[in-house]
Amino acid sequence: MKNFFRAAPFAALAAAALLSGCGKSGDSGKIRMITEATFPPYEFREGTEVVGIDVEICKAVAAALGKELAVEDVEFDSVLPSLIANKAELAAAGITVNEDRKKMVDFSDPYVETGIVVISAKAAPVKGADDAKGKRIGVQNGTTSADWCVEVLGQEPDRFDSPASAFAALKAGKIDLVVADVDPAENLVKGEDAYGITSEPRFLTSESYAVAIKKGQPELLAVINKTIAELKASGRLDEIFAEFKAKADALVASEEE
Ligand code: ARG
Repeated sequence: MKNFFRAAPFAALAAAALLSGCGKSGDSGKIRMITEATFPPYEFREGTEVVGIDVEICKAVAAALGKELAVEDVEFDSVLPSLIANKAELAAAGITVNEDRKKMVDFSDPYVETGIVVISAKAAPVKGADDAKGKRIGVQNGTTSADWCVEVLGQEPDRFDSPASAFAALKAGKIDLVVADVDPAENLVKGEDAYGITSEPRFLTSESYAVAIKKGQPELLAVINKTIAELKASGRLDEIFAEFKAKADALVASEEE
């Protein structure tokens, strides 16, 4: 079987064998991506549609498989459990690769190197772990930011359903700082005078994002890795990043009007 896939003129044949007859997705013309769409520029809503970098990556994977992409939006802490429960074939939600998650799912090659940062009032800047300790910290539930609070500070954060609702609590004076991934954090502080990214050095962690799939599907993993490699090599991935960062920022600007 393995050799067959290696010898096959790639995606089309592999895809057909992969996704037909596995009986997982009821609609064999579609491949389902599960995400949590409050995370610009990776996934966010433009009107009712979920768009973003992760959606574009998964669309390219779907195209390589000869399928159309269907996107499902759930709470972040349900993304991997839903994948494992066969509610989708792909999970892409700015998901950081880590050892705990590797026990549950298989990850593709990473498509970005990134990390988490602090957002706080510029007038009372929180720079890092020492400053943050004992303060009220807001995070999106289920994220590596929540893990950072527990593991590095030994402290329970206030858990919110999105980075934006944590930021709203900061602006309302209910918490002292937000810990979040750098790209959604940059989007949140766009156009804000009083709040900014205050961590110094900027990153509290170094993390990388990858697409997750249910364990034990080497052929599907190979299609995803090949797609990511091609997007990188062609420069298309850089274009996707630029396009959706600009779109997400424009959305903030239009909300401020
Ligand atoms: N990178 C962080 C993590 O994996 C946060 C991801 C949050 N993603 C989202 N779509 N809300 O834990």
